[in-house]
Amino acid sequence: MIVAIDGPAGSGKSTVARALAARCGLTYLDTGAMYRAVTAECLRLGVDVADQAAVAAVARDIRIDFGPVLEGGQSVSANGRDVTTEIRTPEVDRNVSAVSAVPAVREAMVALQRKAGETGDVVAEGRDIGTVVFPAAEVKVFLTADPAARAHRRAVQREGGDAAKDASAKADAAQEAQILADLQRRDKLDSTRAVAPLRPAEDAHHIDSSTLTLDEVIASVVALSPELHERDASNGR
Ligand code: DC
Repeated sequence: MIVAIDGPAGSGKSTVARALAARCGLTYLDTGAMYRAVTAECLRLGVDVADQAAVAAVARDIRIDFGPVLEGGQSVSANGRDVTTEIRTPEVDRNVSAVSAVPAVREAMVALQRKAGETGDVVAEGRDIGTVVFPAAEVKVFLTADPAARAHRRAVQREGGDAAKDASAKADAAQEAQILADLQRRDKLDSTRAVAPLRPAEDAHHIDSSTLTLDEVIASVVALSPELHERDASNGR
């Protein structure tokens, strides 16, 4: 089965998708990490992200490999080089929207994502999973949260914590304000771009995670599908 989880940056998609994958025996696919890997390669090679032809060439040639899912996220390599940490830097954050707006980049990434989906049971998270990549996904979720909650989660994450698991986690206020500004800029770019903008699929279930715990979000996703419910129950046995 395919589960699609879309939503803006910091809505909790990664945490939810990872936990759901572990609980229901699905393979986790972080499509944002793929756009980030292309961005990191462009920056390393000195490719100007405004040069669409050069960025497209990097995306067409790139080899992206996912390694084990670790506590803070999944390990990723680009052309054989470990980029797990590099793809989460503010520099990649600032440039990834420009890279992911290039139509040829999306074409290359969507092809890789569909290939990953052929292997069977996948929970994929991103911006266009339910609308473009897997429009026939059995379960589609559009996960949102108010911008302040999203910025707080990202700020805590950057300091090595996990706000989804620790509601009292604090982060540096100035950094949080900067992250909020960056998130809002990225939301705007991601939802107004011409190709595959961030938007919910018509048949997506909307979940607002602002005031929900991780377990509550997972429970609402599992409740959407008898198959997920069955997988979750049999995994726990
Ligand atoms: O989920 P994330 O923040 O790691 O995603 C990084 C960027 O990649 C995000 O700003 C938009 C882009 N992205 C996309 O365009 N389509 C996807 N399916 C996933 C991410």
